[in-house]
Amino acid sequence: MILIIDFGSQYNQLIARRVREHHVYCQIEPPNLDLDRIRALKPEGIILSGGPASIYEKGSPRAERGIFDLNIPILGICYGLQFMIDALDGEVIRAQKREYGFAGLKIRRPEGVFASIEKETPCWMSHGDTIGRLPEGFRITASTDSTRVAAAENRAKHFYGLQFHPEVVHTPAGKKMLGNFLFEICGCKKTWTMKSFARDTVEEIRARVGDGKVILGLSGGVDSSVAAVLLQKAIGRQLTCVFVDNGVLREGETEKVRALFSRHLKINLRFVRAKKRFLDKLKGVEDPEKKRKIIGRTFIEVFDQEARRIRDVGFLAQGTLYPDLIESRSAFGGPSAVIKSHHNVGGLPKKMRLKLVEPLRHLFKDEVRLLGRELGLPDELIWRQPFPGPGLAVRIIGAVTEKRLSILRKADVILLEEIRAANLYRKVWQSFAILLPVKSVGIMGDQRTYENILAIRAVTSDDAMTADWAKIPHDLLGRIANRIINEVRGVNRVVYDISSKPPSTIEWE
Ligand code: XMP
Repeated sequence: MILIIDFGSQYNQLIARRVREHHVYCQIEPPNLDLDRIRALKPEGIILSGGPASIYEKGSPRAERGIFDLNIPILGICYGLQFMIDALDGEVIRAQKREYGFAGLKIRRPEGVFASIEKETPCWMSHGDTIGRLPEGFRITASTDSTRVAAAENRAKHFYGLQFHPEVVHTPAGKKMLGNFLFEICGCKKTWTMKSFARDTVEEIRARVGDGKVILGLSGGVDSSVAAVLLQKAIGRQLTCVFVDNGVLREGETEKVRALFSRHLKINLRFVRAKKRFLDKLKGVEDPEKKRKIIGRTFIEVFDQEARRIRDVGFLAQGTLYPDLIESRSAFGGPSAVIKSHHNVGGLPKKMRLKLVEPLRHLFKDEVRLLGRELGLPDELIWRQPFPGPGLAVRIIGAVTEKRLSILRKADVILLEEIRAANLYRKVWQSFAILLPVKSVGIMGDQRTYENILAIRAVTSDDAMTADWAKIPHDLLGRIANRIINEVRGVNRVVYDISSKPPSTIEWE
């Protein structure tokens, strides 16, 4: 395995992804990880990530100096390189000119991390500090016009450093450089596959859970579904899944989940019909944050009640993914502003005294999809678009009522039907409808209408952190609008949302 020390760069998850794309397992850990833990992990190599700090600033993050005495190859990237140079008694200074963006890398010799790489290749720079003096034993291996030490190495000790970011796509040879570090320098083998992951994780779950009972909140989304199937494989009937109908689900959702999980996959599944309970509490509530909090809180109550019905349940399983885990403990993880209170089953454990089982905690979303496929889940489920925990409640602007839910559900069915028929369902990140609290005048037949406006939102995105509005063909938009206005009573106007994120968000509330 490869250990990645997280100095807080916005790119460090990308490093992990690149390493795994080479079929090598890696883990991101904070800089304060002590040497004993590092030794116990038995890494074949260590990557020191970039980060926003300056090494000579007070309080800048540092890893244990002792990592340089472990006889393990180390690759420092950007700040990681500067930490390495500083820790080994070289000198880091403020660059005369900050360097940001493309630079032409001139490689001295095609060896080490640069083996089989063109001598001149573009790289992506983003730094304000630079190496002033190299420690003993180091030499420069590449430069750019404005950065003398764009790369350096101490070949005898297997220490390598890159001032640029090999993990981003803007460094085209970056993946090969990382591959050189993994295979030529660290001697890693390509053993990380979803098959091996599934097999090892099933073993781990069995060892952890023993003959205990596990409860899991199934949402119908990819993550909790894949977690459920993995647990089922490991412990069979010791697992109980709970699906809560909170009254703000899409059309036919409950039936779909029941058909797949209890009939097809034979998973022990409990349905809780809590529609009334949720809708009663949401009555008259217009504020988006209040809606989110009510739904989150009520979900916990309902889930907790259900858990108490199962005797001796000792574990709570969740489909938490790696990005959630990293974000919650990043090196510079001061609390960021609350834009929206996300409701996930992730909020559960604080209130429930159950031990956690999170079998997907080291995976990225696309890896979860691969794992789902490996476990035999149908494509339809694996490629589902994300759906927010607070469901349609945050897609009805203003108060949530049965009538408005019914309008939105019908429109949503039509929208998704058309998006699927046009073969766009997987190409967009999400596509959905929002019901506005605004009416407008229309004409149907010879009659004046005064009805609701419905907005359509479709976005493209890689990770939901940023998104762009999808350039859906006009005739398709026309067909969707036409069908909705004709087939859904209560809507006489459809508009298309052309905002990107940021500054807008994907969901409207
Ligand atoms: P925003 O609206 O913040 O949404 O741009 C980003 C992504 O997150 C989804 N979303 C949620 N997912 N619980 C979830 O599990 C939530 O409470 C929640 N709210 C928004 C949203 O659909 C989009 O994919």
